[in-house]
Amino acid sequence: MRKKTEYLTTAEKAKLARRRRLALDFAKVYPGCFVATGLLTLFAIYMTGDFYHAFSAERAAATVGVFVINEVLVAFLVASAHSSAEESRFAVRNTVLAFVMMAITYIACLTTSRFLNVFALPMCIASLVTTELSERKTSTIISLTLAAMLSVVFIHGEYYPDNVLPEVILSIVGNFTAALAVTMLVNKHLARLPYILAALGATALGVLVVVAGTLVMGEFNLNLLYNALWSYGASVAAVLVFMPIVAILEGVFNIADDFRLNELTNLNQPLLKRLASEAPGTFNHSLVVGNLAEACAGAIGENPHMARAAAYYHDIGKLKAPVYFSENQSTYNPHDELIPEVSVSMITSHTVFGEILAKQYRLPPEIVAVCREHHGTSPVSYFYRKALNLKEEGDLSVSNYTYPGPKPQTKIAAIVMIADTVEAACRAYMPDTREGFEERVNKLVDEKLTLGQFDECPVTMQDLATIKTTIIETLPQVQHGRVSYEKKKA
Ligand SMILES: [Fe+2]
Ligand SMILES: [Fe+2]
Repeated sequence: MRKKTEYLTTAEKAKLARRRRLALDFAKVYPGCFVATGLLTLFAIYMTGDFYHAFSAERAAATVGVFVINEVLVAFLVASAHSSAEESRFAVRNTVLAFVMMAITYIACLTTSRFLNVFALPMCIASLVTTELSERKTSTIISLTLAAMLSVVFIHGEYYPDNVLPEVILSIVGNFTAALAVTMLVNKHLARLPYILAALGATALGVLVVVAGTLVMGEFNLNLLYNALWSYGASVAAVLVFMPIVAILEGVFNIADDFRLNELTNLNQPLLKRLASEAPGTFNHSLVVGNLAEACAGAIGENPHMARAAAYYHDIGKLKAPVYFSENQSTYNPHDELIPEVSVSMITSHTVFGEILAKQYRLPPEIVAVCREHHGTSPVSYFYRKALNLKEEGDLSVSNYTYPGPKPQTKIAAIVMIADTVEAACRAYMPDTREGFEERVNKLVDEKLTLGQFDECPVTMQDLATIKTTIIETLPQVQHGRVSYEKKKA
């Protein structure tokens, strides 16, 4: 009997493989989260009432209820964070980050509510950090999970009798609103100061809810101000501690948020300094590719900071033997003394070595991938032609003269591939009319398309058209008007 999968199309098989991979990753992460949630619940019970009494015969059923609810809520959080990762290879990272942020914020809220004031719930810590390092959906789910987990444990806790509970619930609603406002209103691509100011502005909405809620409870006195101040104080404290937490988690999880990408594009970074001194031609080429890639990414709605950083590092693999690459040669060309097969292996290995070097320097995985993918499986045409000329008879398989791949897997990798190809080609020969230049760019991109280099990434024909137009507009500016843009006179 034939297996069911034999009838599936290639796309369906790829989808199935992705689902299996995701399920496997989930199975790896969830048991740890399950155990950690149990420990968190123990801590929450300790902070909100008499710990030993909570496990007495009288209270055991209620305590088990808290454990069950927390485990169910965390299971939803983990599943949601896992499935909403922007790329499946980041699913584990996204899940662990979401859980860690939920746990840190849960502990912080329990501690401040116990020792300071019940309105001091810094629920914004999780939303600030997750919005910056992950994405909005995960941030929202964390806030919801936290609000539910805190409500349950406060209802269970003996320190919060019935007459205080309305205030506790109002505090959770107010601080949850602040956390949600941060998630909705703060843009992760803002610079540091605007980010902090936006966060402080957004959390003020939480104060509004706390004030309105205090009025609902029929209190029109000093409590109004008191509750509002504690609530906003907790949000301000969250904004103050968010930067160090982001810096630590960026390093631990190797996440490329805008703060880290801006650091990576600083020309004083060790790898870029090495590139500038050991392979100056490659360094200059990478800077131009960076300008082109940044413009193209912005034009098709991708992250321009990521594109620039990936382009700066895409050719670091050439550091192994810079002189084998034309941009670093002056008079001596070592390929004159080599057979084409050796030349090709020297050249194509720069993608593999680039990947190794990028991992050694702990560059973010998105940039490591571009180091490896930016030539895809394209042939090294010059040396293939040279080998054909040297061969006296018979055919020559082009597969021995191609890069090892894989093909670009992301739009950023496709952008770097195109910007790299156009820059290299136009450095060798720049047409002196705009029409000639446009024709050249179109031909270079179409060649990659015909070779199937964009088959494995989500770049669309519309994206490719925009990328071509952007390069046609940007490259002459970057190269200081080497294209005359005047029609050649007949
Ligand atoms: Fe390259
Ligand atoms: Fe390059």
